Amino acid sequence: MSVKKINPTTNLKGKIHIPGDKSISHRSVMFGSIALGTTEITHFLNGADCLSTIDCFRKLGVDIEQRPDCILVHGKGLHGLSAPADILNVGNSGTTTRLMSGILAGQDFTSVMSGDDSLNSRPMGRIMKPLNSMGAHITSIHGNNCAPLKIEPGNLHGIDYQSPVASAQVKSAVLLAGLYADGTTSVTEPALSRNHTELMLKSFGADISSIQHTDGTATAHIAPCKELYAQKIQVPGDISSAAYFIAAALLVPGSELLIQNVGINPTRAGILEVCQNMGADITYLNQKNAGGEPTADLLVKYSHLHGTTIKGSMIPTLIDEIPMIAVMAAHAEGTTVIKDAAELKVKETNRIDTVTEGLKAMGAEITPTDDGMIIEGGTSLTGAHIQSYLDHRIAMAFAIAGLTAQGETIIENSQCVDVSYPEFFTTLESLQ
Ligand code: S3P
Repeated sequence: MSVKKINPTTNLKGKIHIPGDKSISHRSVMFGSIALGTTEITHFLNGADCLSTIDCFRKLGVDIEQRPDCILVHGKGLHGLSAPADILNVGNSGTTTRLMSGILAGQDFTSVMSGDDSLNSRPMGRIMKPLNSMGAHITSIHGNNCAPLKIEPGNLHGIDYQSPVASAQVKSAVLLAGLYADGTTSVTEPALSRNHTELMLKSFGADISSIQHTDGTATAHIAPCKELYAQKIQVPGDISSAAYFIAAALLVPGSELLIQNVGINPTRAGILEVCQNMGADITYLNQKNAGGEPTADLLVKYSHLHGTTIKGSMIPTLIDEIPMIAVMAAHAEGTTVIKDAAELKVKETNRIDTVTEGLKAMGAEITPTDDGMIIEGGTSLTGAHIQSYLDHRIAMAFAIAGLTAQGETIIENSQCVDVSYPEFFTTLESLQ
């Protein structure tokens, strides 16, 4: 169990190259595995979650080469996976579990997925319900709607699913099962969640389309498919990882950081809108597009921030960044209100609780609510012992909080950053 000590600093300067996007890395291995031909992935995220996805597809018979400069996935085609000899270990990864459920539901063999304690306590009823209504046979082995999940063969038919939550994992699970169904499948969600599955499946040759309705809801349709075809994928930098260094530059006096190659897909870039609403000085440079995914270099300068309100359809576009935003709000002048974010309760930890505990320990004024939190900014933070509860985003958000706190901040179980950003502490230390 590792511990990191963080001390206050000033003047963070330099260039940071952000590692590959976690959501896009997962999808590139999954879709490459069920496509015909060899998919070449560059700037893949070598985080523990994405390595769990590689490991699972290897157990399903896919040859995946991890070269220093790229990953080669020698796809088996839509019906070419083989029965695993073992339980599929999904580690800490909700994305692996939920998206793979959609793929495994369409196979003619039985498989079992299980993960760590946190993963095995996260809700899987949200994917079991729509997938089983398509004709899948997914059961929760302990009968608690959580993993371990057993997935037995079933004949899938298309459904029109009205999802109660704006969740890309739920949407993607149903769309992936739709590849194996006997008719068109649609998923309507209350607000548009990240659309990487729709963009990437289209480039692999799937018949998929999506629309956003005037009331803010969004529907994606997919037709059954004969085969997908291998692609070259250049994974953009992960905005969820960039968020920590965006915040560091904004909060640490005298800072100026150039954060390179950040994915700014609008379904992910809510944090940039929030930063703008809080008065941040961020300039977009070198804007590009790879496979429908826009990227930019972000020049971020120390700024005087003020409070804001974050709610409604913005929430899915920044859900993973809320721990970091909460720390920014504690520094900002005035009140920040975060609502409509009950999904925070079912992440790697209950992030309403873990953010509240950490910020209170550092002396901030925060009130948890049923679907978010209210933060009265402007109190100076003091260093504290922060328990990460093995949640990578809590460990990183509070490491950044420690850069401006008075005295030392200690992050317990800091190795959990490996889930999404193994180089996080090395990069942070290189700036000081
Ligand atoms: C993800 C979707 C989000 C996000 C998670 C990754 C994905 O989860 O929190 O880190 O890759 O589809 P939900 O779909 O549950 O909101």
